[in-house]
Amino acid sequence: MGRAWLHTIAANPDVQLVGLVDLDTEAAAAALRATDLDAPVSTSLTELAAAQAPDAVVNVTVPAAHLPVNLEALGLGLPVLCEKPMAESVAGCLPMIDAAARAGQLLMISQSRRYYRHLASLREVLGSLGQVETARCEFARAPRFGGFREEMAEPLIVDMAIHQFDLARDLMGADPVSVYCESSNPSWSWFAGNAVATAMFTFDGGASFSYTGTWCGPHPETSWNGVWNLGAAGGGVHWDGDHAPTAYAPDGASLPVPEREVPEEIAGSLAEFVTCVRMGIEPATAGHRNVLSIAMVEAAVRSSAQGRVVTIAEVMERARGAMGAH
Ligand SMILES: NC(=O)c1ccc[n+]([C@@H]2O[C@H](COP(=O)([O-])OP(=O)(O)OC[C@H]3O[C@@H](n4cnc5c(N)ncnc54)[C@H](O)[C@@H]3O)[C@@H](O)[C@H]2O)c1
Repeated sequence: MGRAWLHTIAANPDVQLVGLVDLDTEAAAAALRATDLDAPVSTSLTELAAAQAPDAVVNVTVPAAHLPVNLEALGLGLPVLCEKPMAESVAGCLPMIDAAARAGQLLMISQSRRYYRHLASLREVLGSLGQVETARCEFARAPRFGGFREEMAEPLIVDMAIHQFDLARDLMGADPVSVYCESSNPSWSWFAGNAVATAMFTFDGGASFSYTGTWCGPHPETSWNGVWNLGAAGGGVHWDGDHAPTAYAPDGASLPVPEREVPEEIAGSLAEFVTCVRMGIEPATAGHRNVLSIAMVEAAVRSSAQGRVVTIAEVMERARGAMGAH
């Protein structure tokens, strides 16, 4: 993913690479050679920052390293754009949210699946239909990753559904309140943990978001973004995840959907980060807001394990309690 970021940074005239940090400097140097970029490579962010005086840090390390790297960058007084997931648990997110507040610097999480031109169109038409009260997302893929995902207890919810849960918050313009979730693993699954899940979330104001997903088929597959149906008093919107959305009035008549051009995926989050840092604006994926997407994942896993409705407040309080205990 670091290589994808290097290409995205090279393509954005508003940013300049002034240094590259990795525990593995050979890997970093090889990644640099694959681009037209030239910059010093180091194993120490603090040393490189002293020499190169960067304005910001993009953190593309493995999830377990997000916390130490973000703390180091924020401690140097630098804003951070960090790859998703912010951390592997809500408790893991809280120290970096505190560090950002103490430093008075932006910690933004790159939720790249929020940035598509079709989503920009969809948001615009949704905005004219009223508050979204119903949302459904169906996700079906059958990837053969090998590696850690095939050993995880809840690979679908923890490693993939974070994207759709986060997008639900974005499209519904509301915060999650509680979830009931069941997860399972079909007889033909090649995952050790649960590769199928159904989750029913309640949002502020009583809106509902239902998610059903599978990572072991059977075919046909959906888009990696899932298939979405959103309902409001003024009508509904359908998005297949890959093509232009369609919108309908309550009587079924088609509604016009505007076309929009925006930077997509990580280019979109980089552009938003630059705007926010320059103008002192807070993005929707600032750490202290994005933690609710992590809380949705944690609540769904808990609900599935315990067979009961789990509230987001309970998950947040537990994490704060665990942090206070250390
Ligand atoms: N947005 C997306 O669609 C998307 C897709 C893939 C991966 N990701 C995310 O990108 C991140 C990186 O994933 P990846 O697949 O590139 O991982 P990777 O293991 O291929 O690369 C991570 C790199 O981080 C380096 N690293 C680890 N700990 C470090 C530390 N403490 N300091 C400096 N460098 C350190 C490693 O040496 C390695 O070069 C993860 O958070 C992952 O979830 C996002």
